[in-house]
Amino acid sequence: ESAMEDGGGALLPPHVLIFPPPIQGPINSTFSIAELLCLAGFQITVLLTEDIHSRLQSRGNIQKRFERYPNFQLRTISDGLPEDHPRSNDTFLELYKSLHTKTKVYFKEMLTSGSFESNSGSPVSCIIADSLLRFTCDVAKEIGIPIIYLRTFSACCLWVFFCLPKLIEVGEIPYRREDEDALVNCVPATESFLRRRDLPGYCRYVDTNNPAMELLIVEGEENARANGLIINTFEELEGPILSHIRASCPNLYPIGPVHAHLKTKLAAQNLSLTSTNSNILWEEDKSCISWLDSQPSKSVLYVSFGSLAMLTRDQILEFWHGLVNTGKRFLWVIRKDWKNEILAEFTKATEERGCIVDWAPQQEVLSHRAVGAFLTHSGWNSTLESIYEGVPMICWPCEGDQQTNSRFVEFVWKLGLDMKDTCDRGTIEKTVKEIMDVRRDEFRKSADNMAELARNSLIEGGSSFSAFNRLVDDIKMMSQ
Ligand code: UDX
Repeated sequence: ESAMEDGGGALLPPHVLIFPPPIQGPINSTFSIAELLCLAGFQITVLLTEDIHSRLQSRGNIQKRFERYPNFQLRTISDGLPEDHPRSNDTFLELYKSLHTKTKVYFKEMLTSGSFESNSGSPVSCIIADSLLRFTCDVAKEIGIPIIYLRTFSACCLWVFFCLPKLIEVGEIPYRREDEDALVNCVPATESFLRRRDLPGYCRYVDTNNPAMELLIVEGEENARANGLIINTFEELEGPILSHIRASCPNLYPIGPVHAHLKTKLAAQNLSLTSTNSNILWEEDKSCISWLDSQPSKSVLYVSFGSLAMLTRDQILEFWHGLVNTGKRFLWVIRKDWKNEILAEFTKATEERGCIVDWAPQQEVLSHRAVGAFLTHSGWNSTLESIYEGVPMICWPCEGDQQTNSRFVEFVWKLGLDMKDTCDRGTIEKTVKEIMDVRRDEFRKSADNMAELARNSLIEGGSSFSAFNRLVDDIKMMSQ
């Protein structure tokens, strides 16, 4: 391996290929990391599957977002499935298998034939790939390119995955419904508060012979194969958990919250943040910001269950009644299909003190002085955005890491209340009042404290700031 030189003998910057998984959740944070590395002066190629690319492409936002970086390029690769394949949650294993057989071959071919060569002619010198895409590590090792893995969800959930072999061995999973309140014994650092129902959603009453489970069981081993692991969290939030993960993956780069890391670095270079920097998936309805402008300080409950959460009609109606009964003002993100029905039933309450949108500029909403609390599904991006803005949370997790995140929000970080597995209007009303009235000062204080720690982690000398510098230095070193 030799250092890349241009015609004049000067060193070319490292060329990093970034490969997010073909699912929408991690896309935004992966692009934030790509942008941070563009700002660090690297050549960046983001590789998307053709399917994800065409879904994002319809909005044309990737081009808009990256047009100011001449050192950025986008490439696509086939996921190997026929065009009309549903690519749904239910068929995820088919996608996984196809990626690890067909895409693996295309990927190796593209890397070795120079398909990713940048304008300046430099070949890929380092790969950053989501650790779900395990074939990338095989290929990287075969052809001798360094690879760093990337995980975009919480360290607390990742740590549970690392402990899965033990959990299965001692019989803590699968578990019976009547045992869901029993404490989990073999996830170190969480023994006093983690119940079985707080384990990542995939562990709920599963059959451990399920092939999907096999993917999770090897997380620990798999993540240790790469030269390092980038994770979207910060030391002050998940330090004790990160220490445990380091026992098998010593080289961690906790550089989060990445959305705010990017904002901070852009500001330092006098560059503005456009809406496409924070969200490339849906069109934002900005009208809710002027509505918020006319509301009293900290009076509004912001309600959003993220991009994927599927609530039933009954659940939506329970939330609605519970909310309206609190008498609080609210801003609710509801996708179109539910909106009309609810509007028809409750126009009066909506007009008086509510605002409903299809998709909100969430980071802007959470930073607005009128927002007092956030009813969330505890997706990791939403959780970090809320933490960064110091907004207390009411958690109603649906699946995956959300089940674990919400327990940490209540028990470890004391930033809110976890309402998991309950959805009746009485509980909803009581919980909202608890957060916004009864225990409001207590939650606000801990939310302010954590927000300050998050901000400090991103400034010179802070933990995420330093981890990012180390990442940049390590990539330079590995690329030589
Ligand atoms: C998925 C998984 O559900 C989650 O558990 C995992 O942690 C990440 O991948 P998603 O359900 O989309 O994510 O939730 P979340 O991680 O919270 O991300 C939602 C993103 O959409 C946030 O960045 C949020 O700011 C944005 N958003 C949401 C908007 O911009 N506007 C909205 O109206 C709602």
